[in-house]
Amino acid sequence: MNMVQRATEALNRTLPDRAVDPLSTARRVVGQAVSRLDGPSKVTGGATFTADIDQPGLAYASMVPSRVASGRIRHIDVTRAANAPGVIDVITHHNAPAMDTPVLMTLTAKGCAFTDVAPLQDDVVRWNGQAVAVVVAESQECADSAARLVDVVYDAAPARTSFRGLLSEAVFPADVLGEPSEVSRGDVEDTLSQAAFVVDEVYTTPPHHHMAIELHATMAQWSPGDKLHVWDSTQALGRTRHSIAHAVGVPEENVTVTCRAVGGGFGNKTVWDHQLLCVAAARVTGRPVRLVLRRQDVFRMTGGRAPTWQRVALGAAPDGHLQALVHDSVTGIVHENSPEQVSVPARHLYASDTYRIGQKKVVLDVVPNASMRAPGDSVGSFALESAIDELAGHLGIDPIELRSRNEPAVDPTEGTRFSKRHLMEAYRRGAERFGWPDRNRVPGARRDGRWLVGHGTASAFYPYIRMPGGKARIRITADGHAVVTAAANDMGMGTETVQVQHAAERLGLPLDRVSFEFGDSTLPDSPIAAGSAQTASLVITVAQAAEELKKVLLRRAPRHSALHGLKPADVVFRDGGLYRVSDPAQGVSFETLVGEVRHVDAVGSSPMLPLEFMKYSMHGYGAHFCEVRVDATTGETRVSRWVACIDAGRIINPKTAASQIRGAVIMGIGSALMEEGLVDSRAGRTVTASAADYHMPVHADVCDIDVSFLDIPDPLTPMGVHGVGEIGIVGVAAAIANAVHNATGVRVRDLPITLDKIIDGGAAR
Ligand code: MOS
Repeated sequence: MNMVQRATEALNRTLPDRAVDPLSTARRVVGQAVSRLDGPSKVTGGATFTADIDQPGLAYASMVPSRVASGRIRHIDVTRAANAPGVIDVITHHNAPAMDTPVLMTLTAKGCAFTDVAPLQDDVVRWNGQAVAVVVAESQECADSAARLVDVVYDAAPARTSFRGLLSEAVFPADVLGEPSEVSRGDVEDTLSQAAFVVDEVYTTPPHHHMAIELHATMAQWSPGDKLHVWDSTQALGRTRHSIAHAVGVPEENVTVTCRAVGGGFGNKTVWDHQLLCVAAARVTGRPVRLVLRRQDVFRMTGGRAPTWQRVALGAAPDGHLQALVHDSVTGIVHENSPEQVSVPARHLYASDTYRIGQKKVVLDVVPNASMRAPGDSVGSFALESAIDELAGHLGIDPIELRSRNEPAVDPTEGTRFSKRHLMEAYRRGAERFGWPDRNRVPGARRDGRWLVGHGTASAFYPYIRMPGGKARIRITADGHAVVTAAANDMGMGTETVQVQHAAERLGLPLDRVSFEFGDSTLPDSPIAAGSAQTASLVITVAQAAEELKKVLLRRAPRHSALHGLKPADVVFRDGGLYRVSDPAQGVSFETLVGEVRHVDAVGSSPMLPLEFMKYSMHGYGAHFCEVRVDATTGETRVSRWVACIDAGRIINPKTAASQIRGAVIMGIGSALMEEGLVDSRAGRTVTASAADYHMPVHADVCDIDVSFLDIPDPLTPMGVHGVGEIGIVGVAAAIANAVHNATGVRVRDLPITLDKIIDGGAAR
């Protein structure tokens, strides 16, 4: 047994073990399709979201967006706004409180901002839509109305806003999330030029915007002693607190951030200018202030997915063996630390004799891009997985068979062993559920009335990420209930439900005797809900807390009891108490152990990931299958069937996990067929800043989505779990592009796949 296996064994030793615990009557709940505990409150309107929270004396803020993309404010006149009805104050760079640079979202820093310039600290305009003033008023209507009366004169400077126009200026970033910005082996271009079968194409994707149902919302209230309470629709409670405290310049312990419910978050419910401006407005006016972004503000004041240009070139032998793999790419970004990591899937999916895989950046004067569900991987896989399908077509080999012939024995660019990899099993299972053998084999050959019918497949992929440093507390109450607490986030994915399931199983309690308290920074610090890492990170802190709890409870064991003098390894949690491993009939209930005191509690913290884990390639995989129907005359494309089979370790709750995959597939359908952020390059203004202009799938665009999981635990992760939040979107756009090609014979390499491109024969613009 090597060091990593030993480390994992140590972590997993604390798991409930049926063999050790044969007498348990507690219901086994991990792996059960438990409905979301917060479901009833969400669907009946009972849940309280940030913008629902009221406060006596509440004032309302509205931001004034800049009209130019670059330059300076020559003059700003707030007279008309300040005199408008209900206006309390107008804040500009002339009178804004001093603020420090927000702490950026990085793996090492504890911040979660995507912009590293504090708002209203100078007269510089950095992007079109950046806030240049904030109006605070007695009502939202007064604030919004007065915001339009702020008169601003700009000295506009030339702005870099056209991504495609600036491609020739692309340069390598320092790194891509800590990885080299380019990796290579052998003379790939030479190999490519000699290969019997070659695909060499350019794929492009537009800016994508976040459009969660809930608008970004904040409420800030100062109280004596420089104490600040912020209610915020964040997916990163602790990091939001850290970012705000640092920017505002108060000790972190003075700041409380509360967020009980988020109405959808996909990577940018993080810190932007508006939270800092809301806090500033509360400071200046001495009132609690609510600031809710308008929908257009979400497009212009918070970032999404960066535009990409990607060249994928594949060279193969007649048997499909990959000899050359090029993935050259450029993304249009603002900051080094948010590079849109499009080159990641190509680094890990297929073996190739030679390769060059990397990405450059073009720096733009636009709202900083942020993370957005599987940043990089989702659009990167569109290029790679389209190219693989194109190669399969040239070779006349089934695309799944082609992938199987290029399955790597070890990680193809890192040379590391896989902790687990069941990609081909996901394909096998998915193909069976989909009926892949009955697919349309010849492009453009299957027709159903006016519809051309096509089938496509592509790989899903997402890294395993676990965040160290979190904590969780378990409290056992006098009536034998367990309350698990952590400053965790629930954006609607079922955090509460799966944590209750996990804790119930671990503590040997039925579900209704366990609750999970989260959503407040006063609770034990917990990892961010991002990187598909929250559940995977929380389970280990809760496991550690349960181990601590054993010690605490054993110390309380009465002298005459069956537990007296025992060590944690001698006991298990079962049936609402602690029982001897060696004699399962002998034990003491929680009620007895807690006794006269109100409760007993214990805190567990996440151990650092052993460095040895770096020696493993740890990823989730999956296979998407879809059927599309393309109107033979208009090019209208409908997705009519979907099968996703996912290899994401052990699944705690197949119902909530399947919902995550389903939501991600829907988001992927949007990226494939509809979503397109358009920037007017004259002013650098995003013109598609509404639900009317920025198209998203609605129910009528979504078919039944069949989701299944291999449910094979990763032997190197705590409980064998991986994240499921993001993997489902990776490969979706490619599967659709492949199906559209299969239906029509037209290959579209530029997202979104709109009907004009299909009619035009798919020429990339
Ligand atoms: Mo995710 S894009 O890391 O919220």
